[in-house]
Amino acid sequence: MITRTADFDLSTRNTFRMKVRCALFVEITAEEDLQELDFASLPKPLMVMGGGSNLLFRGDFPGTVLHVAITGAPAWDPGSGLVTVGAGVVFDAFCDWAAQKDLWGPENLSLIPGECGASAVQNIGAYGVEVKDILADIRAWDTLEGKFVHISPSHCAYGYRTSLFKTDWKGRYIITYVTYRLSADPRPVLDYGGIRKALEGQEVLSPRLIRDTIIGIRNAKLPDPAVTGSAGSFFCNPVVDKAHFERIVSIAKEDNGQDCKVPHFEVGDRIKVPAAWMIEQCGFKGKANGGARVYRNQPLVIVNESGDATPDEIVALENAIIRAVEAKYGVTLHPEVEHI
Ligand code: EPU
Repeated sequence: MITRTADFDLSTRNTFRMKVRCALFVEITAEEDLQELDFASLPKPLMVMGGGSNLLFRGDFPGTVLHVAITGAPAWDPGSGLVTVGAGVVFDAFCDWAAQKDLWGPENLSLIPGECGASAVQNIGAYGVEVKDILADIRAWDTLEGKFVHISPSHCAYGYRTSLFKTDWKGRYIITYVTYRLSADPRPVLDYGGIRKALEGQEVLSPRLIRDTIIGIRNAKLPDPAVTGSAGSFFCNPVVDKAHFERIVSIAKEDNGQDCKVPHFEVGDRIKVPAAWMIEQCGFKGKANGGARVYRNQPLVIVNESGDATPDEIVALENAIIRAVEAKYGVTLHPEVEHI
C-alpha cells in the first residue's frame, strides 16, 4: 500500500525530534509499491528514510521523504542459517527475535535505534560487532535501472559506519529486504570494553544473556530515546597516526599529570582515540547551548534536552566542539549524524 501525505510533520519521525516538515511523505508497505510509484512526479529531492535515528534536519525538507515500511516476521531458514527481514523492521526487534530463537549474531548490536534497511546503509556497530559481519544479502529497487536487484555485501565497500550506499550509490538503491546470517553455534564476542567483566561468574552464555548485558551497559550510558531526543553518537571516532597519537599523549600529560592514560585502540598501524574522551578533555561534557546539551554520561552524544532545541543550537554546539578539539589536539572530528 502506498500512503502519501503532503506537508508532513516529521517531528515524530526523527529521533532528534526536530520540528520540521517535508513537502511530501510517502510510505510503502510492499515491494510492488515501488514498481507502481511514479518517481518522476514526486517533489525533489527524494530522500529515503528509515527510523530517522541518524539524521539532523537543518530545516524543512523541500522534497519527498520515502519510508519503506516493509515489516512482518523474519523469514528464517534453519538449514542455511539465513534470515530475511523487511527493511522497515525495527533492528532491535530483530535482535530480540534472534535472542528468543537462541541464535547468535546480532546480540551485541542490541538497542541500536533504527530499522533493518538502514543497518545495511550505515554499517551500524557496537561492542566489537558491525552489521557487515552478519550481512548475507541486500535486496533493493534500483531506481536507475527500474528493477529489483540482489546486492552482495562484498560489493558494498563496508567500513566504519560507511558503505557505497552513503557515497557512490547515494540515492540509487531503495533497500526492501536484508538477509542476515545467524548461527545456532555459540559465537560470543566479548572483547569490547566492559562486556567480559559484566558477564563474570556466568557459566553458560546465551544470546539472550549477552543481549540483556548490552542493554544494561547502554541504558547506563546513553539517553533513553523514549524520553530524550538524540541521534546516538554525534561524531565518528577519529583515527590518527602514531606520531600524532604521541603528541596527544604529551598534551594529555601536560593537562592532567604524567600518570594520565589516553584511551585508545589500535587499528592496523594507526590509533583510534575516542572522540568522547577528547570532548570531555575540552570541557564540553554537560555543556548546553539553548535546548541542546552534550550528554553528561557520554559526551559523544548531543541531546535535545529541552525537547525544543533547534537545529541551529545543535549545529552551534557541534561547531564549538570541532573547533575546540582541533585547537587542542589538531584532530578534526567528523559528524556521524547525517545533516539534511
Ligand atoms: N569516554 C570518556 N568519557 C566519557 C565516555 C567515554 O573519556 O564520558 C572514553 C572512554 O575511554 C571509553 C571510550 O571513550 O572507553 C569509548 O566509549 P564507549 O565505549 O562508550 O564507546 P564510543 O567509542 O564513545 C562507540 C560507538 C557507539 C557504540 C559504542 C560501543 C561510534 C561513533 N560510536 O562509542 O555507537 O555504542 O562504541 O561499541 O563509533 C552510535 O553509533 O550511535 C553509537 C552509540
